[in-house]
Amino acid sequence: MPPEAPALDAILSEARAAIQHAATAQQLTEVRAGFLGRRGTLAAKLRNIGQLPPETRGAAGQAANEAKETIERLVEKRRRELEQAKLRHNLEERRMDVTLPGAAAARGHLHPVSRIEAEMCAFFNGLGYSVEDGPEVESDWNNFGALNFPDDHPARDLQDTFFVEGGERVLRTHTSPVQIRAMTRLEPPFRFIVPGRVYRHDHDPTHYPMFHQLEGFCVGADVSFGDLKGTLYAFARHLFGQQAKLRFRAHYFPFTEPSAEMDVRRGSGAWLEWGGCGMIHPTVLRNCEIDPSLWQGFAFGMALDRAAMIRFGIPNIQLLFEGDQRVLEQF
Ligand code: DAH
Repeated sequence: MPPEAPALDAILSEARAAIQHAATAQQLTEVRAGFLGRRGTLAAKLRNIGQLPPETRGAAGQAANEAKETIERLVEKRRRELEQAKLRHNLEERRMDVTLPGAAAARGHLHPVSRIEAEMCAFFNGLGYSVEDGPEVESDWNNFGALNFPDDHPARDLQDTFFVEGGERVLRTHTSPVQIRAMTRLEPPFRFIVPGRVYRHDHDPTHYPMFHQLEGFCVGADVSFGDLKGTLYAFARHLFGQQAKLRFRAHYFPFTEPSAEMDVRRGSGAWLEWGGCGMIHPTVLRNCEIDPSLWQGFAFGMALDRAAMIRFGIPNIQLLFEGDQRVLEQF
């Protein structure tokens, strides 16, 4: 037996133990270098072979090479084991429950004013009303004149009205000018609503320079004030529930006669001013070439934003238009 043989065996069994003991790929690489590297145990052994007597050199060299291959094989085997173990561990650790609901993408939703508007349109569509539209920059005639405002009416005052184009036109102060636009186009009988933006020189917790109104208009041979009240009651109950109450107060509008202002109250809440209404003034019909001896009807106009405020309990109209996500996300 050459003197190196037991030493090689010892190296092998030491290597086997060290390789099996390696717990990570990094440790395994270090163990391998410790035995097979240039300064490793086996390299030292191989260097000694040169000094052996020629007759034992061949066998010793072969034994050392075999030992080297054995160690390489053991390292490879251990490397695969460690990889498998790591894979298993990862599968266990990061187990994925595919039945869990996914992370939902943030979804947008309608603005509360748009929501109320859509609801209002749906309600009136059900009563046979069409939806009419008009521009926000209006002529003085459509916004005031045709609606029977006298030339010196205070509503034309700079306080309320935004004049544009050098005073030639106005930002419509109400949706009523669309009455004129629609009436000159339609043949009676007809009924329509007009949701839209209007503008006034006003800014406080309940007023904003831009707000929304809903205009309603119904013309027929025998449309009465009773029809008006019935329609508005049904509407208020639809929007605010069966407990909703309406109150009519005599008022003046140039385009209706008689005229009333209406207040709405939800349950036991406070009365809130909601809009105006009345029987269409004959002059307005005549201005649109409709014969008031054949046709009559009612009109109403209400603050759409106020309905949204009542419905959603919003205390300040400005909250509706500031675009603050913290507010909007609550709907
Ligand atoms: N246009 C009125 C306003 O802005 C509201 C209004 C009152 C409209 C009576 C109507 C009506 O159609 O009949 O204050």
